[in-house]
Order: sequence, then structure tokens, then C-alpha cells
Amino acid sequence: MTVEDVPAVHAIEQRSFPSGSWTIDAFYHELEKNEFGHYFIMEADDEIIGYLGMWLVIDQAQITTVAIREDRRGLGLSKILMEYIMNYARLTCEMMSLEVREENTAARRLYEQMGFSYGGIRRDYYGAGQDAKVMWVRLRDE
Ligand SMILES: CC(C)(COP(=O)(O)OP(=O)(O)OC[C@H]1O[C@@H](n2cnc3c(N)ncnc32)[C@H](O)[C@@H]1OP(=O)(O)O)[C@@H](O)C(=O)NCCC(=O)NCCS
Repeated sequence: MTVEDVPAVHAIEQRSFPSGSWTIDAFYHELEKNEFGHYFIMEADDEIIGYLGMWLVIDQAQITTVAIREDRRGLGLSKILMEYIMNYARLTCEMMSLEVREENTAARRLYEQMGFSYGGIRRDYYGAGQDAKVMWVRLRDE
């Protein structure tokens, strides 16, 4: 992902997370200021159809955001994106974690399929009393 991609990414973000999306400035900040941030887009026909961000801090990877454009969901694209970034993170990291809303069944199933386990709950993570489930996966055996 580059700064030129941000408006299209942010449009998908707003539609994907209506109850609390990142601001457009948050994406610019991640790309330009966060040395730990790694952000990827998925394209088809020269259009952005998905994106994913993560932080790689020493040997720990943390997914910060991921979405597939509504008209391309249910086609297995998020699995391809997840496999790609897990292989990317595996080069330097041993573990990957993320937070997911309890009621986000689609995302939770995706992460379960990718080998993630449940590791705890972060109370009020999303505000308004909405908790997050923490999920994690080991990227390497050693
Ligand atoms: C979650 C999301 C990224 C999945 O993307 P996708 O490309 O549609 O998912 P895929 O087609 O690759 O499906 C992967 C797996 O996810 C699960 N899944 C996807 N959509 C699902 C749905 N509507 N209901 C239940 N499980 C679903 C399934 O386990 C699926 O595997 P299967 O097809 O073998 O059963 C997409 O729904 C999205 O962008 N949602 C809005 C943003 C969001 O919630 N992001 C996650 C924040 S933690």
C-alpha cells in the first residue's frame, strides 16, 4: 500500500467497519510515520479490492486491519491475503496476533481456518462496552 492507495482503501474501510472505522489520517500516519507498519493491498482489474495491515515488532506480528471489498467477498480472497502476510511475517516473527469482535463470525471463522486460537478477551476494546477476542497463531515451530 502506498499513500496513493489510501483514498480507495479508506472507502472500503468505512463501508466495512460502519461502527468504528479508521480515519484517513490514521492510514497516512501508518504508512508515513510508523516504522513497524506493513500495509498491503490486493488488486484486480487495476482496482483495490482488499487490504491488510500489520505491525512487525521484533519477533511479534500483530494484524491491525483487514477487509475485502463487499462485491468480492466469499471468494476465498482473504485466505489468499492471510496466507501471503503470514509467510511474509514468518521471515522475522514467531507469533501473530489480532483482535476481533465477538460477533464477527466471518472473520473469526477465517482466522480459525488459518490456524489461530483464542487467547483471551480485551474488555471494552472497541468502546461502548464492546469486547475483543484476542487470537494468535505460532508462525514457526522453533
Ligand atoms: C472477514 C472478511 C475479510 C472475509 O473475507 P472474504 O474474502 O469474504 O473471506 P473468504 O472468502 O476468503 O473466506 C474465508 C473463510 O472465512 C469464513 N467466512 C467468510 N465469510 C463468511 C461468512 N459470511 N459467514 C461465515 N464465515 C465466513 C469462512 O470460514 C471462509 O472459509 P470457507 O469459504 O472455506 O468456509 C470479509 O468478510 C470482510 O472484509 N469483512 C469486513 C471487515 C472485517 O470484519 N474484517 C475483519 C476485522 S477483525
